[in-house]
Amino acid sequence: MQVFETIGAFRAARTAYPTLGFVPTMGFLHEGHLGLVRQAKAENGAVAVSIFVNPKQFGPNEDYASYPRDPERDLALLKEAGADLVFLPTPDVLYRPGSGTRIDVGGVAEELEGQSRPGHFSGVATVVTKLFNIVQPQRAYFGQKDAQQCAVVRRFVADLDIPVEIVVCDIAREADGLARSSRNVRLTTENRQKAPALFQALQEAARLFRRGERDVDVLENAMRVVLIEAGLPDIDYATVVNADTFRREQPCSDNALALLAVRAGEVRLIDNMPL
Ligand code: PAF
Repeated sequence: MQVFETIGAFRAARTAYPTLGFVPTMGFLHEGHLGLVRQAKAENGAVAVSIFVNPKQFGPNEDYASYPRDPERDLALLKEAGADLVFLPTPDVLYRPGSGTRIDVGGVAEELEGQSRPGHFSGVATVVTKLFNIVQPQRAYFGQKDAQQCAVVRRFVADLDIPVEIVVCDIAREADGLARSSRNVRLTTENRQKAPALFQALQEAARLFRRGERDVDVLENAMRVVLIEAGLPDIDYATVVNADTFRREQPCSDNALALLAVRAGEVRLIDNMPL
């Protein structure tokens, strides 16, 4: 496994690989990321991973400074998972003095996370486009946990004619259902115990949907009840949207996706489930 901190050195090494899968990450890797790396390796023969906590996708009051980081541990895990190339730039490598270009995706990026975290998806689209240009992968792998991010990436890849196939992989969960996330380590013991309620709330919505319930108010309310009873009342959103547009429809269509964003102390947790 080779590790590079500069664009030039990465590009020079990349020429040795005719096909390359790519997993962009912000580090502090967990089983969800490693599953993406293994799948990318199996489907492409070789895999590149980037580790970069992207300042442009964090709002001024968000957790950029406290986002967990452990590059040494990440590199050991990536070696074991079979990564071939790792790109580990510092912010000044990716954002040079005077750089100001941002990608504004519109549409699907404007709903939900787009409203709760203004500028977030523009930051994601900007960095992922740069990473695609540097890494030039045939396929790129993203986790379904960030369902709206996946839709945003598909949108700008199509809009900007970027020659990469986007592969979305299932959510990796802990034994109790909590979706794996780098931020989970920042949960207090008490909130870690409450956190599986997100998965339980989604399961409740899925159960009602299977029984034929299509009233979005009823589905949303059922999720809220589970979260509040579990001691997680700080709900950013608990909703059901059209999985293509991320718009709320009443009644919901068969192509429905339940989504949650909930604050547990200092940590904002998100999760989702196709209904
Ligand atoms: O999902 C993430 O970890 C980030 O949003 C990504 C795709 C690596 C861009 O910084």
